[in-house]
Amino acid sequence: MKKYAEIIGWGKCAPPAILTNNDLATFMDTSDEWIYSRTGIKQRHIAHVPCSEMSYVASERAIACAGIDAKEIDLVIFGTNSPDQMVPNSASLIVNRIGATHATGFDLNSACTSFLYALNVATDMIKAGSIKTALVIGMEKTSTIMDWGKRDSSVLFGDGGGAVILQATDEALGLLDAKLSLVMDTREAIELPGLGMNMTHKEMSEFYYSLNFLGQEVFKNAIKGMQDACTSLLERTNTAQEEIDFFVPHQANARIIQTLAKRMGIGMDNVMLCVERYGNTSAGTIPLALCDALTEGRIKPGMLLLTATFGAGLTCGAGLIRWGKRVTPIAESDVQLPICDKTALEIIRPAIDAAKKRYGKL
Ligand SMILES: CC(C)(COP(=O)(O)OP(=O)(O)OC[C@H]1O[C@@H](n2cnc3c(N)ncnc32)[C@H](O)[C@@H]1OP(=O)(O)O)[C@@H](O)C(=O)NCCC(=O)NCCS
Repeated sequence: MKKYAEIIGWGKCAPPAILTNNDLATFMDTSDEWIYSRTGIKQRHIAHVPCSEMSYVASERAIACAGIDAKEIDLVIFGTNSPDQMVPNSASLIVNRIGATHATGFDLNSACTSFLYALNVATDMIKAGSIKTALVIGMEKTSTIMDWGKRDSSVLFGDGGGAVILQATDEALGLLDAKLSLVMDTREAIELPGLGMNMTHKEMSEFYYSLNFLGQEVFKNAIKGMQDACTSLLERTNTAQEEIDFFVPHQANARIIQTLAKRMGIGMDNVMLCVERYGNTSAGTIPLALCDALTEGRIKPGMLLLTATFGAGLTCGAGLIRWGKRVTPIAESDVQLPICDKTALEIIRPAIDAAKKRYGKL
């Protein structure tokens, strides 16, 4: 019988320290009016812990929500651009911390699209019958790699994300199909040249995460890339736009989402928009948006969801998800992040000082 991979558990983690647009205006030449009118962002969360700690909390919440034992998990895929370290991978840390004694794990980085790409890989492995239960994480600590001297990009991002549990079922539920794609000749539109082995053995003074960013190139190619992926997916699956109950897109910019929704003929009443409170959490946006949509009661049993995403590369993608019967958690986890005794501005102060040293002033 054909297998599917139902999403039976979900959990998010947004760190407590909040950095508002007005906080940013205290050290760089920007304003709440500029940021909000161009992006729809009002604030972002800043992590006082590593990416893996937030992922552990989100994973425990997803496991409790699913009502399973961690020992049932066969595979953990950790979608992120900001792992604590490259070797060993971060997924192995999560496997150990949650006590998933029968699981293995790997990290997946396709930039902001990492969660949908990871969801697709895990789903296809369940459909193929090689595994039964998977934990898929989309989490970022983008604040670590922000160049606070670049006001066009650093105001856009935030920390946080979420995790989901997938389990094999005979019912046509979960990620039914996905279209993953890439926009050619756009690799320079977003790049972090300081991240990776090109920097190995260079002087420490040269280590500086500087984000190269062509905002308008990203804006127009992201909309086209996501629209093409959605259209191709709907055609391939014989799905009419009217059949889509709810749209959960990557949360990078409210204007990108509004334009895409309009082109897809989906009214904003049926679109999840939470970029205002989190900013762009890269691989974390879709699981965060899914969790909030469920908490807010916007996802109902049996709904057909469309998701769409883009990120550096430019990698793009779209997915069709059939939600199951349950929209509330089976149980809550009591796992929490360690207490945070700093403000968001205090947490990022060393990186702001490094940017001031590099650029002279901000
Ligand atoms: C970044 C983005 C918000 C910029 O908006 P825009 O309308 O294209 O703005 P521009 O780049 O044309 O800049 C307009 C002006 O604002 C200035 N500006 C840039 N960032 C600013 C900031 N944070 N505050 C105030 N002014 C700013 C620019 O210097 C420019 O000034 P100038 O006209 O004097 O040269 C927009 O291009 C965008 O959202 N792109 C997509 C980014 C994205 O989603 N990335 C996600 C990666 S996964």
